[in-house]
Amino acid sequence: MTDNALATPATKTSQAAKIATEGARRRTFAVISHPDAGKSTLTEALALHARVITEAGATHGKAGRRSTVSDWMEMEKARGISITSTALQFPYRDCVINLLDTPGHADFSEDTYRVLTAVDAAVMLIDAAKGLEPQTLKLFQVCKHRGIPIITVINKWDRPGRHALELMDEIHDRIGLRTTPLTWPVGIAGDFKGVMDRRANKFIRFTRTAGGATAAPEEHILADDAHAAAGDDWDTAVEESELLSADGSDYDRDTFLGGESSPVLFTSAALNFGVNQLLDVLVELAPAPTGAADVDGVRRVVESPFSAFVFKVQAGMDSSHRDRIAYARVVSGTFERGDVLTHAATGKPFVTKYAQSVFGQQRSTLDDAWPGDVIGLANAAVLRPGDTLYRDVPVHFPPIPSFSPEHFMVARGKDPSKHKQFRRGIEQLDQEGVVQVLRSDKRGDQAPVFAAVGPMQFEVAAHRMATELSAPVSLESLPYQIARIVDPEDAEFVNRQVSCEVLTRTDGVMLVLFSTPWRLEGFQRDNPDIKLRSLVAAEG
Ligand code: G4P
Repeated sequence: MTDNALATPATKTSQAAKIATEGARRRTFAVISHPDAGKSTLTEALALHARVITEAGATHGKAGRRSTVSDWMEMEKARGISITSTALQFPYRDCVINLLDTPGHADFSEDTYRVLTAVDAAVMLIDAAKGLEPQTLKLFQVCKHRGIPIITVINKWDRPGRHALELMDEIHDRIGLRTTPLTWPVGIAGDFKGVMDRRANKFIRFTRTAGGATAAPEEHILADDAHAAAGDDWDTAVEESELLSADGSDYDRDTFLGGESSPVLFTSAALNFGVNQLLDVLVELAPAPTGAADVDGVRRVVESPFSAFVFKVQAGMDSSHRDRIAYARVVSGTFERGDVLTHAATGKPFVTKYAQSVFGQQRSTLDDAWPGDVIGLANAAVLRPGDTLYRDVPVHFPPIPSFSPEHFMVARGKDPSKHKQFRRGIEQLDQEGVVQVLRSDKRGDQAPVFAAVGPMQFEVAAHRMATELSAPVSLESLPYQIARIVDPEDAEFVNRQVSCEVLTRTDGVMLVLFSTPWRLEGFQRDNPDIKLRSLVAAEG
């Protein structure tokens, strides 16, 4: 036991100091990007540079190196998407980096949103040829909404792409983020020789390795010798860097932490170019954990007794175990495997015998954790996203807001004899947040409505019901696309109107569903006294 209430004042002080030191070493972040910008490749490159793996391809299994362990993975593979979330921890310099992976596909933005509640910074990864893409924009809005500082990485500089200055303008003009490049490319997109380190005023030259499978060697060349090494490309980089400085595009800590400016780096994740620089920036500039506000707005500082919140529940990752892992982000204090915590939602003790760290398909037992770390709690059937766990001093963190669903389907069990499995399965998917489950007296318990942000969530739900929960379902589309919260006293009246339907979420919130924005507008025009509220506008 580490931060218990029985400790003497002296041990408590030294324990608090240790927690503060460990917390200050943590850098917890996620990569936000549009699919195909190179997130998996960059994750591997980071692991490679931090010497977690020795050859790229070990975690995400490019080139057939991945062996399939479950039908879940089969589904991901068939779709070419990553559904499972991973948390990678590795030491770098004197810090501990926690990289939280997020599903790339827009249909799973809700999962991504949950992951973003657990990070202290985000890396916005942009394909140099494509610039800002829709999913990047959407996730950027979520980061902005939550005040998460953003480091921008322009990737694939080894391939022909846009002009670097043009990309800076696009970011500024479209999302209002002032870019403050820390490195600047030497050589145009497609002819990536290296980068100028703008703060140290030197040329970092990269050398290709076979297939980019190992860390790229780099040489640090003083500015005076850089022209001899890179020719006119160096001079162009110097000129452009001067332009940037004249334009006020030099790094500024306050505006970075305030979410108004973003340091920029140029990389080729595939060739492992510029990856060390990203790790250095994470260590030197990204914020360490600072605790979190509870439901009453009171800050739980990192030195407080242990507390954490669950930001994601993932089941069915490994068919041989059929287990369920709750990922919790440590807010304060320290954790040791085996600690008995309190589950704030029920007030019941929670034993953490099966704490793990999980990355890709690999799991290892987790022995301790500090502020900023992620704990994977296996077999945690009672935990759901947003739940708080604490020790000694009670705390309740705010729930994780959900996205507004835009797709709705009625679920019916295919096999009437499996009614029990059907009910249990639906309850489980609901608790995990795979889909939101809505009910009404009219539809009855046999035909709940699944609500989702993206249609692929239904596929996951149906797949899980059939394979893991032994209750195959048929799904039938409903013609709705908008949900609003309605007060219970108005629900009956609203439900009598044509072209809308009132259903109740498991948490008791009543939602009215409309088929089109025009129907919603028409309803509001005809019934100005009825207050309808939007679900959280986290989407921006
Ligand atoms: P994602 O997780 O963001 O969806 O992207 P992922 O890393 O899977 O990368 C998408 C494609 O872009 C992959 O090519 C990958 O190799 C390539 N890529 C990533 N970073 C770079 C880079 O810096 N330079 C270049 N030239 N390519 C990059 P693929 O053809 O889909 O797969 P693969 O067979 O190459 O692995």
